[in-house]
Amino acid sequence: MRLLVCGGAGFIGSTFVRQRAERGDEVVVLDKLTYAGRRENLENVEHVFVHGAIEDQESVARAIDGCEAVVNFAAETHVDRSIAEPDAFVRTHALGTFVLLEAARERGLRYLQVSTDEVYGSIEEGSFTEESPLEPSSPYSATKTGADLLVQSYALTYGMAAVICRGSNNYGPRQYPEKLIPLMVLNALHGDPLPVYGDGLQVRNWIHVSDFCAAISHVLAHGKPGEVYNAGGPDECANIDVVRRIVELTGADESLIEHVTDRPGHDRRYSLSSDKVRALGWEPGVRFAQGLADTVAWYRDSRDWWEPIRSGAYREYYERQYGRPLA
Ligand code: NAD
Ligand code: TYD
Repeated sequence: MRLLVCGGAGFIGSTFVRQRAERGDEVVVLDKLTYAGRRENLENVEHVFVHGAIEDQESVARAIDGCEAVVNFAAETHVDRSIAEPDAFVRTHALGTFVLLEAARERGLRYLQVSTDEVYGSIEEGSFTEESPLEPSSPYSATKTGADLLVQSYALTYGMAAVICRGSNNYGPRQYPEKLIPLMVLNALHGDPLPVYGDGLQVRNWIHVSDFCAAISHVLAHGKPGEVYNAGGPDECANIDVVRRIVELTGADESLIEHVTDRPGHDRRYSLSSDKVRALGWEPGVRFAQGLADTVAWYRDSRDWWEPIRSGAYREYYERQYGRPLA
């Protein structure tokens, strides 16, 4: 199969490209290479690379020809950045998804939109199903919701073979260190304070990136046009417990943990029911305890990967966001 993977140089996209290339698929990656997109993520992975934005019709036309399906990971993905500067989130998620959908529709291609549990908002008890109302809290999740609705409208209105796969919080190798787990691991390894937002009792449903990518392949192959499929991980964990486990795994001092001002509009808990994608034959294989230990080991051993990030523009971002420099 020849696939167009948009955002394939990011954390999840590059894992998906690696999985598909190993299966023998031909993969074309279209990526704008924002601060989070890196060519190094695709080192030693067979693919064709097109540098461009999904909202740019010419780049999309250049990348899409000869492809049978489009999988769209391309997005601005950090909630805190969406609070500080929402502009790019609106452009990429709304306009970018529209341009991609048009290109796929004109050519009669299958289309998969990669989405998030954050479109449902926060849930105190139980789990979200695909029928749960959409109640996004942040500019990130609101613009992702807008993109999902556009995808569904294309399936309904034009009969496009478009599907949506919504994942819970991903973790694993090559995640940009602005996100909770890699941020805490790198800070712990450097002796920097570990900034826990508010009381740290917010709960996330953790899925290993390899499991989420496998779910996406299942939905691409077997999902019904116009349908949504949730893919949640097997374990939930409060943020403070994630941070305590990272402290243990890195051998850092627990006194590095600091409770800092909470994120505005912070969702308390995410939890996804994945029965529908399980019925397609998927199930997650990695439990959080083991996956987290492996992820910490990967960061410890992958200085070449994170060193250029931690010594570059990430430092300025960190100081702006946390009001203190990194060590
Ligand atoms: P990431 O930030 O690591 O990567 C995003 C990639 O998209 C980067 O390579 C970036 O350069 C590229 N990109 C951004 N804007 C673009 C544009 N306009 N045109 C082309 N490329 C562009 O993100 P990620 O964590 O790998 O997330 C991938 C997708 O999965 C996103 O759609 C995100 O909403 C979704 N998702 C993420 C999580 C998570 O926990 N990280 C959970 C559920 C769903
Ligand atoms: P994050 O990795 O940004 O993912 P999301 O907002 O998509 O869930 O954050 C995960 C959780 O960790 C979330 O509840 C916010 C919290 N968090 C902190 O407590 N401190 C931090 O420095 C970061 C980045 C996140």
